[in-house]
Amino acid sequence: MRPFKSTLFGPSGGLLWHWRALRARRLHADLREQLEQWLLDWQPAANTLVLVGPSAGWTLPHRFLARFETIVAIDLDPSARPLFWLAHGKALAASGLTLHWVHGDFVEVLPGLLSADMAVLFCNVLGQLGVERSDYQQVLGALPHMLRGVHWASYHDRYSAAVGCVPDAVRKPFECMSGMDSSTLLSMGCKGEWTDHGTGELLPPRWPRRYLPWLLTARKFHWLEAGTVSPA
Ligand SMILES: C[S@@+](CC[C@H](N)C(=O)[O-])C[C@H]1O[C@@H](n2cnc3c(N)ncnc32)[C@H](O)[C@@H]1O
Repeated sequence: MRPFKSTLFGPSGGLLWHWRALRARRLHADLREQLEQWLLDWQPAANTLVLVGPSAGWTLPHRFLARFETIVAIDLDPSARPLFWLAHGKALAASGLTLHWVHGDFVEVLPGLLSADMAVLFCNVLGQLGVERSDYQQVLGALPHMLRGVHWASYHDRYSAAVGCVPDAVRKPFECMSGMDSSTLLSMGCKGEWTDHGTGELLPPRWPRRYLPWLLTARKFHWLEAGTVSPA
């Protein structure tokens, strides 16, 4: 197994992300509510849930997690485990759930863990791979094939920009069958410079998906894409 970059100050997680998530609790409240609705609608036939990149689970609702008998969490950030326990431990222990933690790189760890009786949730990590690794396009391209036999779901950054690029009127969740691209942004009146997070091909074409507006900070806006996939 390749040595992985364990870091308290990673570009997509670590202490800076915990600080930001804590400070922005109120700003992120709408997103947490929308994610909770989406996650509660997801009913995979599995007793074990693998969380990929959960960090401390700032955006994950107890109600959803407590549905499973076992959770396996994989994260690069060494501070994620104790903080996840602080945020969710009491509620999860009360539900009798067993939590296993893997401190590592999911690209190395996940293939050896997968089995048909588990579901996998990528927790806002796949749109961040570009800032973590140079081979992110290869990794994202190989994922749907690797996950063929399991229930999986992901919420991830699709596009981001300065807040001023998004008209107030379109900052609402919506569902559609086709993926968001630059022409979708234009048709919604979204202007200016947008960062494409490279996640446009993750979900199958013509597949139901939900787009969630997220004010990451008072200045930064993200469109998150959320979708669920059943075994082929
Ligand atoms: C934006 S944070 C996710 C936030 C999380 N959903 C929450 O509710 O707080 C992305 C997380 O993915 C983790 N991560 C990034 N690349 C990873 C990889 N290759 N393997 C495992 N974890 C990874 C980071 O350490 C970080 O904790």
